[in-house]
Amino acid sequence: MTTLPQPPDILSPEFAADPYPAYRILREHYPLFHHPGTDSFLISRYEDVARAFRDPVFTSDNYEWQLEPAHGGRTLPQMSGREHAVRRALVAPAFRGRELREKFLPVIERNARELIDTFRDAAETDLVARFATRFPINVIVDMLGLDRADHDRLHGWYASVVGFLSNLAQDPEIADAGLRAGRELAAYLLPIIQERRAAPGDDLLSTLCTAEVEGTRMNDQDITSFVSLLLAAGGETTDKALAALVRHLLAHPDQLAAVRADRSLIPAAFAETLRYTPPVQMIMRQPAAEVTLSGGTVPAGATVTCLIGSANRDERHYARPDTFDVLRGDLTPATAFSAAADHVAFALGRHFCVGALLAKTEVEVAVNQLLDAFPAMDFAEGTVPADAGVFTRGPERLRVRLVPGNDGVRAPEA
Ligand code: HEM
Repeated sequence: MTTLPQPPDILSPEFAADPYPAYRILREHYPLFHHPGTDSFLISRYEDVARAFRDPVFTSDNYEWQLEPAHGGRTLPQMSGREHAVRRALVAPAFRGRELREKFLPVIERNARELIDTFRDAAETDLVARFATRFPINVIVDMLGLDRADHDRLHGWYASVVGFLSNLAQDPEIADAGLRAGRELAAYLLPIIQERRAAPGDDLLSTLCTAEVEGTRMNDQDITSFVSLLLAAGGETTDKALAALVRHLLAHPDQLAAVRADRSLIPAAFAETLRYTPPVQMIMRQPAAEVTLSGGTVPAGATVTCLIGSANRDERHYARPDTFDVLRGDLTPATAFSAAADHVAFALGRHFCVGALLAKTEVEVAVNQLLDAFPAMDFAEGTVPADAGVFTRGPERLRVRLVPGNDGVRAPEA
């Protein structure tokens, strides 16, 4: 007789150390499980998580308590229907197509180069501390046309806002710090918004001040809340994805050699990283009516925790789900950064990540420049650095030994 394993606790230290065995138990034995610690229903199979992202019965009303207080106002993730469509249309053009290619690609390239310059001649560095945590925030700060000297303050505010969003255990100190950071960020931004309204420039903040769709424009508070969302949504996520991607390649030298030789594989390596170790491990939803999923029924109004990290390893959906394989046949790089993706790291449906193409561009630029600058890289500490975090997850540090190349000139392949 086989005994049923205990249901895992997603707030336990064992889960934080390695959630993937727990995800497997959930998928196999408890595909719908009420978790008392978060008072939410955990769903873990690909089919159920994908449905929760696509089916409008799963509202995102939970963001009223999870997100709105820290951002100081309603933002895209909690909106639905026409309000969401109009707001999304106001901001989305800046994150794709010509705007991204012509206006922001040079900003991304410059920021990657400047950060790499700070360790270009070093024998060793921590790619998390010196590159990954800084790069996406530097890019957003420059895109918005904010003062680079304020980077540290912005970084502090965004870390507290992300803390508020990830506060699964409802720690009151973390909640207070998030609320305070939201207020300080808004107070910092308001005078700058006034300046841009009076004299718009070529930056993203000016675009947000002047954009109009179907007679709707963003008021000051809409803009401060959206900037707070951008810093939180576009900073830590890309940071963790980038560090994880480099870590996975260093841990798989054959795949690193393949990517080094054929840079067109970088999007595939990024997509596989997002599947294998998604930076956002879980997202919540609130069904407006009773819904039936694998394993049972969820009552209307309950909180559902969609376990992205588990869905992306579902053996019902992927062959060898626990293997990192840039060339896997069941993940499509061409659609991995669109709402037609066959992974759920960016969610799916109407809230599919607005910044997916920006993140892809950032990662392509960063990985290309790192490979160009360093013809050889290896783990400095001999072991593969571990991931940390429960709500968002990624390497806390990534110490690497570096062999510098010829200052930006692509080094010959070994
Ligand atoms: C690897 C990097 C990233 C990952 C894994 C990621 C993940 C996600 C996920 C899972 C959602 C869905 C949230 C939900 O439906 O509740 C989302 C939405 C969003 N993301 Fe990203 N994101 C990344 C990069 C970015 C970047 C670079 C930006 C912009 C600077 C950004 C801006 C947004 C915005 C504005 C939304 C809300 C979209 C909506 O509700 O319509 N993200 N992202």
